[in-house]
Parts: sequence; C-alpha cells; structure tokens
Amino acid sequence: MIAPIERTLAGLRAQTAIWHKAEETIGVVPTMGALHQGHLSLARAARAACDRVIVTIFVNPRQFNNPDDLASYPRTEQDDARKLESTGVDLIYVPSPDQIYPDGFATTVTVAGLTDMLCGASRPGHFDGVATVVPKLFLQTSADFAFFGEKDYQQLQVVRRMAADLDIPIEVIGCPTIREEDGLAMSSRNLLLSDRSRIKAPVLAEVMQDMRAQLQAGAGMAQIVEDARTLILAAGFTRIDYLELRDGNDLSLLDRSSPGARLFAAAWLAGVRLIDNIAVSGPSG
Ligand code: PAF
Repeated sequence: MIAPIERTLAGLRAQTAIWHKAEETIGVVPTMGALHQGHLSLARAARAACDRVIVTIFVNPRQFNNPDDLASYPRTEQDDARKLESTGVDLIYVPSPDQIYPDGFATTVTVAGLTDMLCGASRPGHFDGVATVVPKLFLQTSADFAFFGEKDYQQLQVVRRMAADLDIPIEVIGCPTIREEDGLAMSSRNLLLSDRSRIKAPVLAEVMQDMRAQLQAGAGMAQIVEDARTLILAAGFTRIDYLELRDGNDLSLLDRSSPGARLFAAAWLAGVRLIDNIAVSGPSG
C-alpha cells in the first residue's frame, strides 16, 4: 500500500500525537526526494528499529548555493511514493514551503568548525541550510530516531553535532553507503548524468579504493594524491573540489592513515558534482 502523504504540519502533528499516546517510537528519514536504493535502505533500517516511520521529502532551497542546481534538482514525488511502498513506511511528509519557512522566518542554525572544510568550503552556506532545516524536521516529526546515509558523511557529523548542541531528544543513526554494481555511490544526482558520463562516474570510487589500499600499506597522502587526481581528471572529470584524508569523527585533516581515518572526495563530471567517502581504517586501527 502507498503510504499516505501529509503536506501540513497540523496534519503531521495530529498523526504523531496518536502514535505518542500509544507509546510508539517514531523514526524519521529526511530526504529531498528522487529516492534510490540508498534512501530505501534508510527507510528499511528505520522500519526495523521503530514502531512508526516517517519519510520526509522537501527540496530545501536554503541548502543550495547555486540557483541552477536547485532548479535542476530532480523532483519525482509520485515515483518516490511508489518506491517507498515496499518498505512499509507509515507516512510521507511532503511539507509545502510555508510549513517549513513561514512568512517572517528569520532563524539560521550554524554549526561551526565541522562545516569549514570539504563540502562546507566548496558550497558556502550549504550546511547552514542543512542545519536549519533538519532540526525543523526533527521537531515537526517529534521522532525518536533519525536515519542518515554515510554517503553524506560530513552532513551526518554536522547533524549529530547540531542535535547534541540543541538538546534535541533524538538518536541520529548513520547507515552505510549503498553502491551500484560498478561501485558508484548511489545519489539522486546520478540521475543527471548522461549515459556517457554514467560510464565514467565509477572511476572516482575505483581511484579511492586504490588510494585506500596504498594508505593501508603505509603510504602518505602526499605520495599518492597527485597520481589519483591525474587518474580522475583523465577519466573525464573536469574539476576536483577535494580529495582528502580526514578523521571520521572531528574531520581534522590527516596526512596518513590512523584509527578512524576516512577518504573524502568531491569532483565534477559533465556539470554534475559527485561526492564519495570511504573508511580507510576502523575506529581501532
Ligand atoms: O541529505 C539530504 O537529502 C538533505 O541534505 C536533507 C538531510 C534531507 C536536508 O534537506
């Protein structure tokens, strides 16, 4: 059965009040739609952990630093609702913009430090947009658990910090990146790739896996990063925003592998910005 779609905060609250009264736990999966298997895996994780599951779909204008990017972001609501059918979610919340940003809305949430680098540096204002909309979605849904993909790893860390700092009573759960068979990390932006670009796109993940093997063998980033950049650009990517090794917790820059290290990349392929990250070393080494 296709889950009901709710577009108003009043309607959402009427429903969650019933669930809370019945002492049911609520899980939320915040999305911007154009759902793929990665999102569905989050919905399934929520389904397994919570009594009730809400998937939110809201293309948040405040997290786009480029108007063309916002205009071209895929919007596929009917398909999304159909795709969610198999996951057994209880409600799809698709707020109209005034339910999130009513007239006079004047608040911006900024998470300092964690947002200075990686996507925060190459997309100014992006994480302010995320850190402003996500607490609204948390508070509007009054969820007990929230599910985010590790694909957007920096976002996951920013959301964890924001929820802890604002004392929002929600547990933020990170779920593994889901990949296509050829290794490309699933992303709504993959829909924007032409067939030709789609063939080239997995090179980013391939090069990162190669880098991981070299880092695990003891190489330093300085030794391997130039070759990796050359391979990515030779495959047809036009720009690399970053290709960096960082600590998976505080995102501080590393020059060689250490416990908790992760490799992060963002690169442009025919006008589409792809991001990926992989663990290089587990938390204990
Ligand atoms: O990851 C996303 O789709 C968005 O950044 C999120 C978390 C739904 C906030 O708009």
